[in-house]
Amino acid sequence: KEIVVSGIRSTGFLHLGNYFGAIRNYVRMQDEFNCYFFIADWHSLTTHPDPKDLAGNVLRMVAENVAAGLDPEKVALFAQSDVPEIAELYMLLNTLAYKGELEKVPTFKEKVRLNPDNVNAGLLTYPVLMASDILVHRATKVPVGKDQEQHLEMARNFAHRFNTRYGADFFPGPQAFNYGDNLVRIPSLDGAGKMSKSENQMATLYLADDDDLIRKKVMKAKSDSAAGGEMPESVANLFQLMSLVGHAATVAKFREDFNAGTIRYGDMKKQLAEDMVAFIGPIREKTLELQKDKVYLNKIMRAGAEKARASASATLVEVRKLIGINYY
Ligand code: TYM
Repeated sequence: KEIVVSGIRSTGFLHLGNYFGAIRNYVRMQDEFNCYFFIADWHSLTTHPDPKDLAGNVLRMVAENVAAGLDPEKVALFAQSDVPEIAELYMLLNTLAYKGELEKVPTFKEKVRLNPDNVNAGLLTYPVLMASDILVHRATKVPVGKDQEQHLEMARNFAHRFNTRYGADFFPGPQAFNYGDNLVRIPSLDGAGKMSKSENQMATLYLADDDDLIRKKVMKAKSDSAAGGEMPESVANLFQLMSLVGHAATVAKFREDFNAGTIRYGDMKKQLAEDMVAFIGPIREKTLELQKDKVYLNKIMRAGAEKARASASATLVEVRKLIGINYY
């Protein structure tokens, strides 16, 4: 079976972008591949979350992943920090990563722009840690959203560089993966960029939002005043969301209305809001249920970490040998 790795930073609540970019693929992949899915708690530390919040965030995200359909019997679901081999590989790969290439990464440049007072080395070497998460299991497929494409390219570069330097065909080049052709990018409801954890809270739909909040957010979504003509991006976004959570027939109806110039965006948003409520509601309720059972969540994490460590430590044995750390 091919090996699959993916992670989500523990920076807050999961949102619809995380679901459709990543988790939806996890759920399908778990039956087909050997999967390692983790909560990237180390990655979240570059922005120094309050220590009081970290455990709660990580546990909730484990619950959210299970509520969204991950079966902990089929996949290893774990916290990144429970696998110290990742840190060892990260340290080793850092010697193969160049300052210049790391400074050029768009997500790094964006963070520097937004937060010039916190340009720490962890932020700079973020792609190296991410490559280590993946390569430590010698994975080939990485289900992620469109925004992670560049990071995957870097992981392939580091893998290749390691192979070349140490004269071995050891790490495969991991590929970003999505069922269907293209990687997904879920738009924000305000029409300004992608949905994300840190941007405008009212423009992001979280898997934890209650029904009324979902309705409120969707009704505030950017649409358009005129109907017909070329479809504005904000309207295309609403259609994209509706085709993900709604019925094909409803989508088709609103498309016809749009083409005929008779579409009423208020009606469309009302429909989208109800589709969203029906989609998110069960995941939210299941999460709340699972969150009550910390013992169970910890059991999942321990079993996941054990499986991940077995795979990671086998890789590190080989990596140390290839590098020449082989003294006894
Ligand atoms: P993160 O935590 O920002 O997001 C987790 C996953 O959700 C996807 N995603 C989206 N997909 C589509 N549309 C959106 N608006 C959207 N927003 C988020 C992301 O693409 C991602 O798949 N660096 C990673 C975490 C990570 C990782 C890894 C991923 C750490 N190590 C190893 C894969 C393999 C990140 O910050 O994702």
